[in-house]
Amino acid sequence: MYNFEFYNPVRIVFGKGTIKELSRLIDRSLKVMIAYGGGSIKNNGVHEQVMKALEGYDIVEFSGIEANPQYSTCMKAVDVIKREKVDFVLSVGGGSVLDAVKFISAAVNFDGEPWNILTSGAKIQSAMPFGCVLTLPATGSEMNMNAVISRDETGEKLAFGNPNVYPKFSILDPETTFSLPVRQISNGVVDAFAHTMEQYMTYDVNAPIQDRYAEALLMTLIEEGPKALENPKDYDVRANIMWAATMALNHLNSVGVPQDWATHMIGHELTALYGIDHARTLAIVMPAVWKHQRKEKGAKLARYARRVWGVDTHDDEKAIDLAIEKTIAFFKQMQVPVSLKDVDLTPADCSKAVKQLENRKVKLGEHGKITFKEVEQILEIAA
Ligand code: NZQ
Ligand code: ZN
Repeated sequence: MYNFEFYNPVRIVFGKGTIKELSRLIDRSLKVMIAYGGGSIKNNGVHEQVMKALEGYDIVEFSGIEANPQYSTCMKAVDVIKREKVDFVLSVGGGSVLDAVKFISAAVNFDGEPWNILTSGAKIQSAMPFGCVLTLPATGSEMNMNAVISRDETGEKLAFGNPNVYPKFSILDPETTFSLPVRQISNGVVDAFAHTMEQYMTYDVNAPIQDRYAEALLMTLIEEGPKALENPKDYDVRANIMWAATMALNHLNSVGVPQDWATHMIGHELTALYGIDHARTLAIVMPAVWKHQRKEKGAKLARYARRVWGVDTHDDEKAIDLAIEKTIAFFKQMQVPVSLKDVDLTPADCSKAVKQLENRKVKLGEHGKITFKEVEQILEIAA
């Protein structure tokens, strides 16, 4: 196992009826900005619950944060915060609203052009405190220090991470997820699955705790994901998925082990340029990355086949084939596309995405050996 340092200060408040805890979690003297998206929280009663919990607080609202949050929208929120002298931001929604809030909180105090936080890793000295009421289990943003922001004018979608942007708390009430459309249930399960994989499907460094933790998450998502599609009102299923998604990207999983993230980096380009939902890009790209990296990931793929899928064969090559096949079948069961063809694209259509990665001189994967040339081959495999 590699050396590591682990720090995660996020207070998790989990379970039915926990939104009312907001009044305990946010000091009454603070002026609060409630940030949300396109209105789902008004249709499912979450907005009402939040307002009730914060009765008597000095509140401003900021709505309209898009899926794949835009830089320009974030900067509008920064203006509101400065004008209204806001002290605390509450994100109410999915990963997009929360990522936007992380960026907004960092941008408020930032000296200079905030876009540099994403392009050149500009230093963030402080951020406005914020909390979260999560309504979509997927990204793990509720318990990590990462955010991904898009800029449509330039076709960019870039990530940043900084310890100043851990949420002060995250309220995870699985009942808020009952209103999710099928597409978002699927996306959430697949995103959490992919996060676990990016920290697991690499090579062995004798870290059995991290490996078995990842395998537990994968097995849970494989069991519970289809149940959520079949019986959307099952609280226990929703609770298990919600906790799995949080645990999949709070970085407990990645301590002391190599990480990949090639699928995510390629996927982000496909979202930025062609608007494909984040999780869907992952289901298209991940099996192709595995096929391309079959030799490098072979031992781990065979272990995954045996431990997670119960594949019973001494033949490693056969186990690897089954690992890939069963994963694709799971993605199909979760009703997400598994090839470029499924989203009406060809590898040639993706040349702009490859060009973006070439311009950024990326070296992806756990060995840092996947350049834009290999990405081109991976997208051919994903055809
Ligand atoms: O905008 P509203 O009206 O809220 O509707 C949203 C949105 O249309 C809707 N929704 C959310 N909760 C709902 C609901 N609809 C009904 N009932 C509910 N309870 O779902 C739609 C998608 O929401 P979004 O927040 O975009 O989805 P998700 O949570 O999957 O977030 C995706 C974003 O997170 C980034 C992605 O790249 C993408 O931009 N990621 C963030 C990560 C992180 N911070 O660590 C890691 C991930 O790999 C990922 O890159
Ligand atoms: Zn993801």
